[in-house]
Amino acid sequence: MDKFVIKGGRKLTGEVTISGAKNAAVAILPAVILSDEPCIIENVPLISDVNICICILTEMGAEVTMMDKNTYRIDPTKICNFCVPYEMARKMRASYYFLGALLGKFNKARVSMPGGCPLGDRPIDQHLKAFAAMGAEYTLSQGMIDLKANKLHGCQIFFDVVTVGATMNAMLAAVRAEGLTIIENAAKEPHIVDLANFLNSMGANIMGAGTDVIKIRGVEHLHGATYAVIPDQIEAGTFMAAVAATKGDVIIKNVIPKHLESITKKMEKIGVNIEQYDDSIRVWVDGPLVKANIKTAPHPGFPTDMQSQIATLLTLAEGTSIITENIWEQRFRYVDELRRMGADITVNGKVALIEGTGNLMGAPVKACDLRAGAALIIAGLAASGITEIEDIYHIERGYDCMEGKLRALGADIEKVSVPDKADAKNSEIKKAI
Ligand code: EPU
Repeated sequence: MDKFVIKGGRKLTGEVTISGAKNAAVAILPAVILSDEPCIIENVPLISDVNICICILTEMGAEVTMMDKNTYRIDPTKICNFCVPYEMARKMRASYYFLGALLGKFNKARVSMPGGCPLGDRPIDQHLKAFAAMGAEYTLSQGMIDLKANKLHGCQIFFDVVTVGATMNAMLAAVRAEGLTIIENAAKEPHIVDLANFLNSMGANIMGAGTDVIKIRGVEHLHGATYAVIPDQIEAGTFMAAVAATKGDVIIKNVIPKHLESITKKMEKIGVNIEQYDDSIRVWVDGPLVKANIKTAPHPGFPTDMQSQIATLLTLAEGTSIITENIWEQRFRYVDELRRMGADITVNGKVALIEGTGNLMGAPVKACDLRAGAALIIAGLAASGITEIEDIYHIERGYDCMEGKLRALGADIEKVSVPDKADAKNSEIKKAI
């Protein structure tokens, strides 16, 4: 069991380079299945969700070569296994993209119900609705989703809710379907556009990605391509919050400032200085931080995946801030941990009231999901004393070498391996028996 040990109170300074976007990479890697030739994917983040995607592709029969730590050559032409078993799917929410990709290429797929961060009810009814509209039949039994179709055809899909996953899955299934598919009420996140750009670079015909109507004219074949994943907007936002929380001064490189707009606007309101360049930003704080009200919303609104990090920043600001979480019902689970560090936060349903106390104190805490873990790192960096964060595997699912990047900015953070006391006790008992 690993944990992060952080000695707080050091200002972050210097330069950091943002990695490729997790939520784009975990869709683009399965999308390679749709190609009839090998593809090269660059700027892939080194995170455990990507490792799982690569394991799944390899198990299916794809030939995967790691060309350098962020570049993979994937040859999908020998894929002969259309099943993603429970042991792999349970570790990652995005395993559902194998449904769309396998269905789109082979007209069949068998994927275990996806796992991922515990954020409350995470239905996939809209994904299944899209596949059914294209002519697929599905059955759900013993935790497995089975999909099959004689042939997929174009159709009109209107999503009942704005959903990133179902929008991407519908695109994956539709690119090789016969005729025109129109997706209405589509999600508009940067990773939707990135997936569309990758598919188009293989010969797909997708128009309108990034707006709420996406039109896809099916093509018979997709060819190989070399493609670089966009920078991770949430990793960039997390570093922005960490720099602000420590009152530091950092140049954040490899970002698309446009993707950060909603985060930048809120941070400026809080009192953070931000200067934008072509593909980097400078973030610094030289005055007091002040309260702000935030409501999470689908893109271009304020991203739910930045909610816990900005909440941590607001615990250090003057005044009372209000955060309304509109996407995930259990995205305030980190609040109990922040309270252990001295934060004054009251949660009532989907609304959190944060009384800025201006300071936090180090404490032993647990990451309960990926972004909660990021929030605790920010809290630990800003707090007085020592913070120890357990269950950091959540953080490693989505952040590429977080502690290394923070150390390079002057943070005092170490990853420490600790023997699991429960495991040790179990082996002691077994020996005794
Ligand atoms: N929803 C449905 N039915 C569906 C699908 C979604 O009702 O079939 C609802 C959900 O319950 C939720 C809302 O629609 O209330 C949005 O869900 P969405 O499908 O957009 O989320 P997702 O695709 O499961 C992705 C990211 C999440 C991020 C959300 C929202 C990936 C792998 N995950 O999840 O990322 O929070 O979009 O932007 O792309 C994270 O990175 O920490 C993370 C959780």
